[in-house]
Amino acid sequence: MAGQISFEPPRGMRDFYPEDMAWRNRVFDAFRAAADAAGFEPYDACVVENYDLLARKAGEEVGNQIYHFFDKSERHIALRPEMTPTLARMVAQRQGSLSFPLKWTAIAQCFRYERMTKGRKREHYQWNMDIIGEESVLAEVEVLGAACDALRRMGLSDADWRVHVSSRALLAELLAASGIPEDRHASVFLALDKRGKIPDEEIKYILQQGGLDDAGIAKTFELLDVKGLDGAAALVASDSPAVARLRELFRLAGLAGFADQLLFDIAVIRGLSYYTGIVFECFDTAGEFRAIFGGGRYDSLLTTIGGAPTPAVGLGFGDVVVTELLKARLGADAAQAKKGVYVGFMFPEQRDAALALAAKLRAAGECVNLALRKQKPKQFFAHAGASSCAKAVFIGPDDVAAGQAKMKDLATREETSVALAT
Ligand code: HAM
Repeated sequence: MAGQISFEPPRGMRDFYPEDMAWRNRVFDAFRAAADAAGFEPYDACVVENYDLLARKAGEEVGNQIYHFFDKSERHIALRPEMTPTLARMVAQRQGSLSFPLKWTAIAQCFRYERMTKGRKREHYQWNMDIIGEESVLAEVEVLGAACDALRRMGLSDADWRVHVSSRALLAELLAASGIPEDRHASVFLALDKRGKIPDEEIKYILQQGGLDDAGIAKTFELLDVKGLDGAAALVASDSPAVARLRELFRLAGLAGFADQLLFDIAVIRGLSYYTGIVFECFDTAGEFRAIFGGGRYDSLLTTIGGAPTPAVGLGFGDVVVTELLKARLGADAAQAKKGVYVGFMFPEQRDAALALAAKLRAAGECVNLALRKQKPKQFFAHAGASSCAKAVFIGPDDVAAGQAKMKDLATREETSVALAT
């Protein structure tokens, strides 16, 4: 092939240099710790999935974004754009033997051929938290509580983000109260989810195509201006199950310690058609970034793919937006907590002593970065300062003669003695 090979990864794909891995690890560590703290069990699956499982109803954006191909045996294969269909397939496969409710978690690499904007790549990692087999709203509370916990563990302040909560069941009640028949609701949801992403005129056109007349379209737009849960409750029956469920969610979130992070927002619809009840999306309070995480209740997905009726709720929390937000709020260099010891030596004659000290410290459980070449003191301390180490030991001829060296805390400059291995 003529010409230079590009050093760029394929468009939308990401390389992770060590400084990027430091951020990724910080985010993943918080995901894993929050999942663990809430009693979720890890599962995983291959990133390659059967296309038929992922193929979508018209109108769903994700359906147009699937990377797919035929393998050498003409099997139609795809890179998963999300984990939920795979999770549903795995649960359906073992439905008879699993003990419900399941609380499962994964960090899944996902691929979407989408238009690249801030916070949206063609490949991302998505933390998934799902509870399968539970109708109670306590399941929503547990999933949301774990996501709030993860954001706090990452070091964000509660003032930085809010979870916007709504309910497709409530929106369905509102649409029905406005005279819009049930069989139109699914297409209305998908059209309304595009609000803010495409002009309102285009949404009106989609709604028209979905069979709504001008009055129906006007009423649909009016609903999105409803303010607060009380405002929405006033438009539906006084015994509305959707309103009762939302009120219970807010009450239980108070007991779990994150009610102040939630706000009711009728405009949260979600772009995936499988949601049936409460839906939510988390945003930064400054409104600078795309959604941090999103999810909701999807009680019909298992039946849609041929499994037994099983209620479910869950969320997907990507690594891209939250990392951008963390860098903006904590500083671009904040990812790496300094730890371990940088060990080096001045002349080749001290190399053995440096290696023996590294081995001794490592055996004692310390992380040691051993310099591989002799260095001048200035050079050594410049490297140590730029490394991820918290402490440094530099061994010169006098140290070997004395049988001990100085361990320097690189932040406080305090020195302590360390015995060299004999
Ligand atoms: P989603 O809203 O399509 O939901 O994605 C969830 C999250 O994944 C988003 O809020 C965002 O953090 C991240 N994300 C999605 N697409 C991209 C992208 N192209 N680049 C970077 N980050 C992205 C779902 O996928 C549902 N399956 C979530 C779920 C799990 N619902 C129930 N269980």
